[in-house]
Amino acid sequence: MCGIVGYVGDKNAQDFLVSGLKRLEYRGYDSAGVVTFDDDNRATLIKTKGKIADLEAKLMGNKREDKVGIGHTRWATHGEPSEVNAHPHQVGDIYLVHNGIIENYKELKATLEGKYEFKSETDSEVLAALVDSFYEGGRYPLTNAVVQALKLVQGTYGIAVMSDKNPGEIVVARAGSPLVIGVGHGETLIASDASALLGHTKQAIYLNDGEVATVTDKSVEIKTLNAEPVSAKVEEIETNLAAIQKDGYEHFLLKEIMEQPRSLKETLRGRIDLRDGMVRLGGPGLPEKELRKVKHLVIVGCGTAYNAGLLASYYIERFAPEVTVEVVVASEYRYRQAYIPKDSVALIVSQSGETADTLACLREIKKQGIKTIGIVNAIGSTIAREVDGGTYVHVGPEISVASTKAFTSQAIAMVMFGLTIAQAKGVRSGILRPYIEEIAKMPAEIQKVLEEVKGPVWEIARRYKDYDHAIYLGRDTAYPTAMEAALKLKEISYIDANAYAFGELKHGPLALVDDRFFEFAMLPTGELYEKAVSNVQEVLARGGHVIAVTNRADFDLGVESVVKITTSLKIFVPVLLNLVAQLFAYYVALEKGLDVDQPRNLAKSVTVE
Ligand code: G6P
Repeated sequence: MCGIVGYVGDKNAQDFLVSGLKRLEYRGYDSAGVVTFDDDNRATLIKTKGKIADLEAKLMGNKREDKVGIGHTRWATHGEPSEVNAHPHQVGDIYLVHNGIIENYKELKATLEGKYEFKSETDSEVLAALVDSFYEGGRYPLTNAVVQALKLVQGTYGIAVMSDKNPGEIVVARAGSPLVIGVGHGETLIASDASALLGHTKQAIYLNDGEVATVTDKSVEIKTLNAEPVSAKVEEIETNLAAIQKDGYEHFLLKEIMEQPRSLKETLRGRIDLRDGMVRLGGPGLPEKELRKVKHLVIVGCGTAYNAGLLASYYIERFAPEVTVEVVVASEYRYRQAYIPKDSVALIVSQSGETADTLACLREIKKQGIKTIGIVNAIGSTIAREVDGGTYVHVGPEISVASTKAFTSQAIAMVMFGLTIAQAKGVRSGILRPYIEEIAKMPAEIQKVLEEVKGPVWEIARRYKDYDHAIYLGRDTAYPTAMEAALKLKEISYIDANAYAFGELKHGPLALVDDRFFEFAMLPTGELYEKAVSNVQEVLARGGHVIAVTNRADFDLGVESVVKITTSLKIFVPVLLNLVAQLFAYYVALEKGLDVDQPRNLAKSVTVE
């Protein structure tokens, strides 16, 4: 969602702003803009609806040598995607870019209406006007004007503000929307995501909520909104350039699907002790005494993170004695007045670590005195910093909007957390060992499956790309997997896809079966396999177009398409079947000629409610 960049130094500002915005493209956006200032404080403000490439084309006609400026990619919240609603917003002497939502913007706008004429429909322009009203044409320092304005604001923001009265200075602030300051040699860079800084500097200061920084080419001065000085902590950015490049693949999505053997290995690194048959997680920081007492797990997430939680819950229930597991959608849970029993632990699941609803749940749950454990990918993200403990999934940057490698690792990381509870509760090693041994084998099994099915799945995807609807079916652990599989197809191919538990077919979805639909049946071997097969027969009897995905070598139901995988796994087969679904969604979108990595209307990191 929205991206911010800024530059002040001795190099060409436009160059960094554009390359930085390109790095942030994956977050999702619909318009973009930059403003730079020359040595005489003259501003060049260029905005456009559409892609960064369109902005770049516009900048070609306005090539500047300016050494300072800010830029933005906008994901529309207030007002349609358009040039006038794009950032930077200029009001009076102020130029401002903003991520987040100013909730009381209407009230603030009413107080400013006589003094300013608003051009856009955005809340951000109101904030720019508010800053300008305190700036009074440069009578007060820019930082003070920003602070005065922010004191009146309700909502969330990451902002970068400049004025044509003192162009060598950028003021940035954050409340609920990330901002990183890159410290270079003779230059300072700003971004809402550290990946934009790579190749320029590895030294970064992560701003905290309620902090305001005044940035020049040589200095970074941080204060709280109450004017208390903050000593800046410079940290090393852990990601490297290779991790955010396509590595020869046509799309990030395919790269991320194919790198799962490696990314899961990173999740497992140092955490599986095969000799003793134990899982060892350091990050949660819960002593055995406390783990023993856990009676209830609440798993909170959105989208794919929610599905991963649901999948993990099925496993955890099998081996963790006397532990109930509740998996909740963050946007709902934050407003439910749910009672969380003492002796609960909450798992806060988020790839980005910035999802607004998930973060809000975390804060609510903490207020109730419940221990919170993050299952997060983005290192140093807000959720990672606010949880009591956590297990990073370490899958590296996930750039494609549709989440794939994070799902696999989130699910397994949560199962591993469940295993640590079971271990502490003294569950026999005979019960837990098979899980641990399979987890250890998974990277290699994933590798095998990906190689085996890539070609056949592409072939099948070609045949189903023109359908309007899809029904994904599974039961037991294959049901949450089917939910995730359906989400993938929906997100990137725009085919209406829903998942149902096989057992629910007769309670409604069976009525849908006709030639506009295909059915994607996930059939892992296991106790319920035969029952699921009977359900497939019911679909076939009604003329369904079934794609069956299974590890049963002898599967021969006479369905339209079959993908068989070979694996020695028994417990985690659904995770492997999901790889087939990920590839299927990818190839359908590819065959349809869609923007695989940046599907319409979606954002990678949803930092607004
Ligand atoms: C967005 C992304 C999804 C993701 C969800 C939760 O909707 O497009 O891929 O699953 O947010 O994101 P998080 O970063 O919290 O895991």
